[in-house]
Amino acid sequence: MPAKSMDELISLCKRRGFIFNGSDIYGGLRGTYDYGPLGVELKLALKRAWWRSIVYDRDDVEGVDASILGNRLIYKHSGHEDTFHDPLVDCKDCKQRMRQDKMEDEKKCDFCGSKNLTDPRPFSQMMKAGVGVIEGEYAYLRPETAQGIFINFKNVLDSTGRKLPFGIAQVGKAFRNEIAPRSFTFRLVEFEQMELEFFVEPGEDDKWHEYWVAARRDWWIAQGLSADNLKYEKHKKESLSHYSKATTDILYRFPHGFDELEGIANRTDFDLGSHSKEQDLVKAKVMPNKDSTEKLLYTDPFENKTFVPFVIEPSCGVDRGVLAVLSEAYTEEQLANGEKRLLLKLKPHLAPVKVAVVPLARNNEKIMEFSERIRAGLHELGIGRILMETSGNVGKAYRKNDEIGTPLCVTVDFESIEKEPASVTIRDRDTMDQIRIPASELSFYITNFFKNE
Ligand code: GAP
Repeated sequence: MPAKSMDELISLCKRRGFIFNGSDIYGGLRGTYDYGPLGVELKLALKRAWWRSIVYDRDDVEGVDASILGNRLIYKHSGHEDTFHDPLVDCKDCKQRMRQDKMEDEKKCDFCGSKNLTDPRPFSQMMKAGVGVIEGEYAYLRPETAQGIFINFKNVLDSTGRKLPFGIAQVGKAFRNEIAPRSFTFRLVEFEQMELEFFVEPGEDDKWHEYWVAARRDWWIAQGLSADNLKYEKHKKESLSHYSKATTDILYRFPHGFDELEGIANRTDFDLGSHSKEQDLVKAKVMPNKDSTEKLLYTDPFENKTFVPFVIEPSCGVDRGVLAVLSEAYTEEQLANGEKRLLLKLKPHLAPVKVAVVPLARNNEKIMEFSERIRAGLHELGIGRILMETSGNVGKAYRKNDEIGTPLCVTVDFESIEKEPASVTIRDRDTMDQIRIPASELSFYITNFFKNE
């Protein structure tokens, strides 16, 4: 049962240390959030799962990590400088600013209901950063990670000798001056993307587009999202981005309603083509920057033909992914004794804490010593964070670990240290079932649990 409201999710995130308001002690900064001790683990785990499926599980994708700051010319030629705008409307009465295409009713202010609105005008989403010692000189903070991939196309091709079809993947921060950041971490001004640019021969693009829509849908389901909470939407011609021939969005049922989680676009040869054109401009002395002249072409080694590849781009936001996974996992259960239980049914590979070791008596030296040995042994398995849980009594420890999504608690009690062979109990988050096993079998049990999830 996913979260029913954003407020209950926000409350859990703050209380347990998943996500905090950005710049909080100074009154915040709109559209920014900080990930806490558990949030950072969940985010890392989601990125790792993406990288694994996109790069390691196949043999046709390379990774890059390009600069966040980009030469202005990149974004001039990508079309962002001229077209990456939102329609901005001001309310002349309450002075609030709104994005016209996201207003509830374009004729009335979303905040005060006034009809005294300005005409829409373009508002650039591009963020500038002062770089260098010359007053007024600037670079752009990237609005998508994609351009860092396109401008390195030839570097990757030359250094790896890849043949089409092949892809280049990247995970990293992106920045957009959003008029109306909203819905917790859904629309941010600083966010992270996981993007794949998959290069194919022209004519093969429609087939690969379909392939990636299906592959990405399956991946989200493997991250725990229910198929019933996913929808697919093909963009109408008039809503396509300037670079796209066709885009299918994967929508998730967030607490605020169905909204975009990922877009899979057929970007054609637009980007590689646009960056290649610069060479002609330099020749014509239109552009002074000789250093950025590279034709981003591909030569088929068998047919000896040279062309600009088409590209299919599955692009998703990490923050939206984390929000979707958290929302889906949020579960409230009514127990037989009338109490309520709150738990996060996260897939084990995404859980911030993999195993919590719970010593039954913290004032017992032998129990503590044995628990520490158990923790150290589990840590050696390399499955992720193993927590020594010493807050509160055992009931509180279970409740806390249910709420943060820890799949298993290993409890060390008096029987563990007094009876031979030494044993521990394992408690399952979802079923609350407990089993006792010899401590010598614990590593095997835990390894299998995470391998077979
Ligand atoms: N390279 C293509 C591209 O950037 P997009 O649809 O603008 O396309 C891709 O963004 C994904 O990035 C979205 O599906 C969303 O998950 C995420 N995203 C975009 N803008 C965002 C924002 N302001 N805050 C959080 N995530 C955002």
